[in-house]
Amino acid sequence: MTPGRPPPARPPPAPEPDPTADQASKDAMSNATTVSPAHSASTASTLITNIAALVTNDPSLGDRSPLGLIQDAAVVIEGDRIAWTGHQSKAPATDSRVDADGRAVLPGFVDSHSHLVFAGDRTQEFNARMSGRPYSAGGIRTTVAATRAATDEELEANLTRYLREALRQGTTTFETKSGYGLTVADESRALRLAARHTDEVTYLGAHIVPPDHADDPAGYVALVTGEMLDACAPYARWIDVFCEKGAFDGDQARAILTAGKAKGLHPRIHANQLSQGPGVRLAVELDAASADHCTHLTDADIDALANSRTVATLLPGAEFSTRAQWPDARRLLDAGVTVALSTDCNPGSSFTSSMPFCVALAVRDMGMTPDEAVWSATAGGAQALRRTDIGRLTPGARADLTLLDAPSHVHLAYRPGVPLVAGVWRRGVRVV
Ligand code: NIG
Ligand code: FE
Repeated sequence: MTPGRPPPARPPPAPEPDPTADQASKDAMSNATTVSPAHSASTASTLITNIAALVTNDPSLGDRSPLGLIQDAAVVIEGDRIAWTGHQSKAPATDSRVDADGRAVLPGFVDSHSHLVFAGDRTQEFNARMSGRPYSAGGIRTTVAATRAATDEELEANLTRYLREALRQGTTTFETKSGYGLTVADESRALRLAARHTDEVTYLGAHIVPPDHADDPAGYVALVTGEMLDACAPYARWIDVFCEKGAFDGDQARAILTAGKAKGLHPRIHANQLSQGPGVRLAVELDAASADHCTHLTDADIDALANSRTVATLLPGAEFSTRAQWPDARRLLDAGVTVALSTDCNPGSSFTSSMPFCVALAVRDMGMTPDEAVWSATAGGAQALRRTDIGRLTPGARADLTLLDAPSHVHLAYRPGVPLVAGVWRRGVRVV
């Protein structure tokens, strides 16, 4: 197991183990192939050479920056791992070879925050918002109703569709959450479906108090920490709470995350998205892997993050789609906080699956340099998931790579909205 990682998601208790779990995911992703057919991962070695700029995220390599940028570089993939990285003139012999033709290669994006198990969309709400109506947590109820009404097949087809979309844009690892079911049966089925496609599954029964419990929020918290947690924990690695006015307050959030910890789930938290509040400090108090959103922060919140190992995950798609104030990434970075970037892909506040779009927004509107944004979308996401096997391209890491149709990673921000992803390898297999 990766050092520092909480135990992986446990298999479901009663139902038969799903032997196709990882294969289902791979198949979904392989179907996204648009260029060359998927090759099966084996111990055969492949050299990718003639790389103008290689982002390794190993500061001991190349230009010695956090990106560990190597020019005129090559990478060797062996099976599902990176076997070698360095200057192309020193590359070892391999079984096969791919010419990157002077383009850039970086680690696959790690999208550490999404909400992909849902049905329907919220086009009308978005339209109204763009005519001046403010965003509120209440819109979540629309998606809860549509999700409860959907079949398992519909939900999984939707999930797979957005996964393929993300893969085509270079995302090789994603986290996703429940939170649009809000009954024992609907939350546990969301997590069961998600676990067929990723190990990074988060129980978010505490997204909002559903309409059926509107008069009894304490009863809903008891359900989330009791019967619903028991039904959901077997499928999840993480537990999350939307800590915000109109959702759950600090005491409720502490009770929910603490109950999850007692069941072996590790906390992450939707914190300080719409207003200042206790979320970020609670995340630090509970050693959450990540405090997500971090839009409205006090100096005390920033100090707490800077003195912790909790990552601040910024989600620029949400501010873009709700016309809200941007999180101040510069303030966090200058204070020494580790920052991740993710999509928050969901039908309400941020309906984008594009990590390149988030990188461009973070550079243009949140004070990040292109280097910082690319680091945060790869290594930062890995850290927000407490993973050391992804988000870097060094020997032993998972062979998850993105090839850009551009000579430098800087083009992700320099050429916003342009589909620059020309190739994706996931676990050593070329899938795009
Ligand atoms: O991260 N903030 C809470 N949850 C989502 C929004 C969900 C929705 O609007 O459907 C978010 O922005
Ligand atoms: Fe979210």
